[in-house]
Amino acid sequence: MCGIFGYTGNNKNAALKTLYGLKDLEYRGYDSWGIAVKETGELFVKKAVGKISEVPERLFSSVLGNTAIGHSRWATHGGVTKKNAHPHFNYDKTITVVHNGIIENADILRRRLSQKKRDLFISETDTEVIPHLVDYYMKRGKSLEDAFILTCREIKGRFAFVLMHRDSDFLLAARHGSPLIVGKGDGEYFIASDIPAFLQYTKKVNYLDDGEYVKISREKADFYSFDSRKKIKKKDIIINLDKEAASKGEWDHFMLKEIVEQKDSLARAINQDDAAIEKIAREIKKARGVFLSGCGTAGKMCMAAEYFFSVVAERHTNFAPASEFPIYHHFLKPESLLIAVSQSGETADVLEAMKVAKRKKSKVLSLVNVSGSSVARASDYSLLINAGPEKAVASTKAATSQLALLLLIAFAVAGKLKEGKELLIGLVGKINDHLNPKYLEYIKKVATIIFHEHDVYIIGKSANYPIALEAAIKIQEVSYIHAEGFAGGELKHGPIALIKKNTPCVALIANDETKDDMLSNVAELKARGAYIVGIASENNTLFNKWIFVPDVGVASPIANLIPIQILAYYLAVLRGNNPDMPRNLAKSVTVK
Ligand code: AGP
Repeated sequence: MCGIFGYTGNNKNAALKTLYGLKDLEYRGYDSWGIAVKETGELFVKKAVGKISEVPERLFSSVLGNTAIGHSRWATHGGVTKKNAHPHFNYDKTITVVHNGIIENADILRRRLSQKKRDLFISETDTEVIPHLVDYYMKRGKSLEDAFILTCREIKGRFAFVLMHRDSDFLLAARHGSPLIVGKGDGEYFIASDIPAFLQYTKKVNYLDDGEYVKISREKADFYSFDSRKKIKKKDIIINLDKEAASKGEWDHFMLKEIVEQKDSLARAINQDDAAIEKIAREIKKARGVFLSGCGTAGKMCMAAEYFFSVVAERHTNFAPASEFPIYHHFLKPESLLIAVSQSGETADVLEAMKVAKRKKSKVLSLVNVSGSSVARASDYSLLINAGPEKAVASTKAATSQLALLLLIAFAVAGKLKEGKELLIGLVGKINDHLNPKYLEYIKKVATIIFHEHDVYIIGKSANYPIALEAAIKIQEVSYIHAEGFAGGELKHGPIALIKKNTPCVALIANDETKDDMLSNVAELKARGAYIVGIASENNTLFNKWIFVPDVGVASPIANLIPIQILAYYLAVLRGNNPDMPRNLAKSVTVK
């Protein structure tokens, strides 16, 4: 949610570096952008409504300066306008700030700061209070750094921001709840919301923790607590990621690239250290009350895991979407266990759920894709799903990796880790065999038949029921077609009234004891005129279109999810949408 970037170093192309960095952060927000560069004695600023990916290099190629900050926005406070785009300034335009998060006491601060000068604020954003507050303290004799610290202490909410002053050679940045990472180059330093933004220059990083700030010059980055002002020593971390993995390459969209990458990402997800899986299994067995929680797609994967634990390990677990999880705090005890699942590891609702569990002294384990993320750091124990960078807003490869890992854990709880690994290795092999251009082309043809429709319904049973819900999310978020997922057996209790002649209905069928019931539900839909797309390992006369998936037993939700992702992708493309940047959405939702 909003990408922020800062650079200071020997290179005079700070503006261009910032532009490139922001392009890599575009998945975090893409409604408007802005860059401020420190030229000799002046601040050069450009901001606009629109996508940073569409900003030509020539706009900044002749702007020279060694220090710059930039922002790619996902609007929270105030509409999508040039005025609301970051960076924001103090009145004299000497202090400039880019910010990610929400300042909860912005209104109170605004009122206080504008008492003497009514036209002090020019935007509707919460961010603008930061430069004005720093300015307020500086005008009362504080140094820039002292004013910055006082501001950090005074603003409330979740934030990460970078500040640049016209007359200082360093950047100041603070974190409280939103991610910030410092990259250490050769004679240059970077600061960004995510590592891919500077990966082409350095793999040496330091993470800021909540309550910390960093002062960055060309020569060094010093970390401090903004409460105690104590200096904090950080160990350099070398990131095992390459730029390639985080780039679109020759693909039209990240979403398709990431769907196809599932052949490899699934293999990586299950190639875990057995000891790590067994450790989590032990915690689950030991716990009294196991909760699974995540948001959106990750939440649906948790819900599918509830079935996995039941079917494979006969173990009762409870799923709640992270945004609803705090309501269940009465049930949490020190012996309870929360398993938090998040691709980004930065989702505010997930962090809040973890906080609630911690308050009750429950144990918190997590499965995340981004190492060093807030969720990983706040957990008692965290396992990486190793899906590799996921840039498209729609989660695809991370989802199947989460599912695979949760299934593996269920097998470990049942004392059958080896069996689970064999099943999943078999699944990877089968997916490798059929996830090819011909398969994509076939699903594109199916999409061509239904892309102009207004509604799509998806049904599934058992662990494929949450996959039907996930399928609906996928179709909604990239194609904007109204889509809903149901448990197949629930249709006759109401939703079947929605079915008209040719209403597209997708059935997710597993080759197990649920198959006959599902086919009965399909027949009920067909009898009302529905156009049936069957996702199954075998064709059936009820299907108008059949999409093949391999028969992989209890792992069927993983196999069934992939063609749905492909279908959603082509529905989006055929409707002229950019599936990587769906309207109103951002990759990681760092606000509650
Ligand atoms: C997925 O396609 C969505 N964009 C969204 O539901 C996402 O899964 C959710 O916001 C959770 O994100 P996280 O996994 O990074 O926590």
